[in-house]
Amino acid sequence: MSGPVPVPAAPTLPALVGLLQQKRLVVCLGTGGVGKTTSAALLALAAARLGRRAVVLTIDPARRLADALGVGALDSTPRAVPQDRLWAGSTGSLHALMLDPGETFDRMVGKLVSDPAKRERLLKHTVYQHLSRGLAGVHEYMALEKLHDLAHDERFDVVVLDTPPSKNALDFLEAPGRAASFFNEKIARFFIPREGKKRLADLLFNKAQDAALSLVGKVVGDQFLADMTDFMRTFQGLFSAFEQRGLFAESFLRGPEAAYVVVTAPDALRIEEALEFAQRLRDFKLTACAFIVNRVRVRPTGVIPTSEQAHDALRTAGIPDDKRAVLAERMAATLQDRAYLSDRDARAIAALRKRVGAVEVLLGPELSDSPHSPEALARVSSGLLGIP
Ligand SMILES: Nc1ncnc2c1ncn2[C@@H]1O[C@H](COP(=O)(O)OP(=O)(O)O)[C@@H](O)[C@H]1O
Ligand SMILES: [Mg+2]
Repeated sequence: MSGPVPVPAAPTLPALVGLLQQKRLVVCLGTGGVGKTTSAALLALAAARLGRRAVVLTIDPARRLADALGVGALDSTPRAVPQDRLWAGSTGSLHALMLDPGETFDRMVGKLVSDPAKRERLLKHTVYQHLSRGLAGVHEYMALEKLHDLAHDERFDVVVLDTPPSKNALDFLEAPGRAASFFNEKIARFFIPREGKKRLADLLFNKAQDAALSLVGKVVGDQFLADMTDFMRTFQGLFSAFEQRGLFAESFLRGPEAAYVVVTAPDALRIEEALEFAQRLRDFKLTACAFIVNRVRVRPTGVIPTSEQAHDALRTAGIPDDKRAVLAERMAATLQDRAYLSDRDARAIAALRKRVGAVEVLLGPELSDSPHSPEALARVSSGLLGIP
């Protein structure tokens, strides 16, 4: 494992830079559309710039983000970001991948079930197909499974984790705590009809007598029951592995090597939501180490002109009379709008700073176009982190 490479000590660099140099896990939380996935990519690029061997696990990345990273379409295998897509001076490396819960589940089964015939049977089983593709919570659980893989992958020193939008992200945090009982309870609840669910679950998990099973079969349908018991028999061997992974994820997510960053946008509603995330983290006895306020509108430099002043400026610039009136009007209106919006953002940010006290609040500038090139990502980062 390569150690962090020192970056020139500058008192102005945010503490988050230090965390990117030290931590083994950086989790980005926040509601949808605020730039969480972009921020995760950006923090991972920054980590690579700082000498770390980083991997970013994204959820729903924009196609053009994958293009910007030069990895083609992102899938669930870590792809190396080519050196020329990393920021100048990068001494580390970056891999990127996207979470695919179904595929992750298949791989896990592939690793854990050594008998090929048994493995094939399990993967093709209709019950398994339903479970791995449709059961609520599988998404979160498989994110933990992937985290387990990445954390044990010799190629990486730090994992940057994007999370699903909104409250799902908090399920993700809840998942490790539930992991030990996740499969036993959830599978049972999912497959077992409402009537007499408890009893049927007990019967299935306790390898009930044939007689009892055939009685139950009358209620739920013989085929369903045959599928279910067959499935459970093959699947049961995996439970201890699930449990072990859940416990690993729990200690990793709650341990000193993890840092949590809340991503938000500079408006009152989004900021309230970000504060809720921070509160939920506290409920889990975790702390947000930084807030990233993304898409902050920057105030136009200089004096904001009235339309008369714009008119005069255009005359001086030699713009013909017939074009000047409309142009002056538009120019003044655009600059006034931008000034108004940037002032509003500034007030929202000031309010956030007041409420979070000592927690770092970092600002990512709004670009006129989506940051879908390495240069554009670097521009957001240089505003945000002071690097590269
Ligand atoms: N600083 C920025 N300036 C302009 N556009 C941005 C900025 N950050 C993100 N975007 C764009 O906003 C959209 C949502 O960003 P994304 O990172 O996918 O958000 P989330 O993961 O929170 O849903 C994307 O199209 C992205 O390119
Ligand atoms: Mg996203």
